[in-house]
Amino acid sequence: MDFKLRDFRPEDLERVIFINRACLPENYSRGFFLSLHKSYPDLFLVAERDGEVVGYIMCRIEGTIWRPRLKRGHVISIAVLPEHRRKGIATALLKEALSRMAERYGASECYLEVRVSNTPAIRLYEKLGFKKTDVVPRYYLDGEDAYIMTKVMAPQ
Ligand SMILES: CC(C)(COP(=O)(O)OP(=O)(O)OC[C@H]1O[C@@H](n2cnc3c(N)ncnc32)[C@H](O)[C@@H]1OP(=O)(O)O)[C@@H](O)C(=O)NCCC(=O)NCCS
Repeated sequence: MDFKLRDFRPEDLERVIFINRACLPENYSRGFFLSLHKSYPDLFLVAERDGEVVGYIMCRIEGTIWRPRLKRGHVISIAVLPEHRRKGIATALLKEALSRMAERYGASECYLEVRVSNTPAIRLYEKLGFKKTDVVPRYYLDGEDAYIMTKVMAPQ
């Protein structure tokens, strides 16, 4: 492994925004990144190669109205710059976030939305044990559908 993971720091913000815009059409305000970091600082991770941030994952923990004691992790955004892909960076980011969700927050499952056409991401999630659990028609601004993919981490 020639990369390392560490917690996001506010001084990484411009670089993370650059990576987000380079990799995904779903972009967020500076305030959104910072407020997620404030709420769940240990679920916002970056990957560094040669001292440069090349990928990130940003997550939060949510409750459910119908099962108040159930805590669910939600992957809000994950991206790795194109020239650093297929080196296991997203796998490492996601595995670390999943284990922190379970160990530090008691999350028993984790879910995310993914474009139905995003085969690389779907493969990644399936490899880590996520299953397609729902489809949300026209979830994205351009009209594309989303799969909801869920990984159960502890029996409920
Ligand atoms: C999806 C993404 C985060 C994967 O990052 P990555 O660091 O390249 O992923 P990994 O190297 O950990 O890949 C793990 C596995 O995912 C699958 N995978 C990753 N990229 C793939 C591709 N282009 N085609 C098919 N499978 C792919 C493979 O099974 C891979 O394992 P392998 O390399 O041993 O075959 C990256 O492609 C990316 O940033 N895409 C744009 C942003 C995005 O789509 N984010 C997800 C939004 S829901």
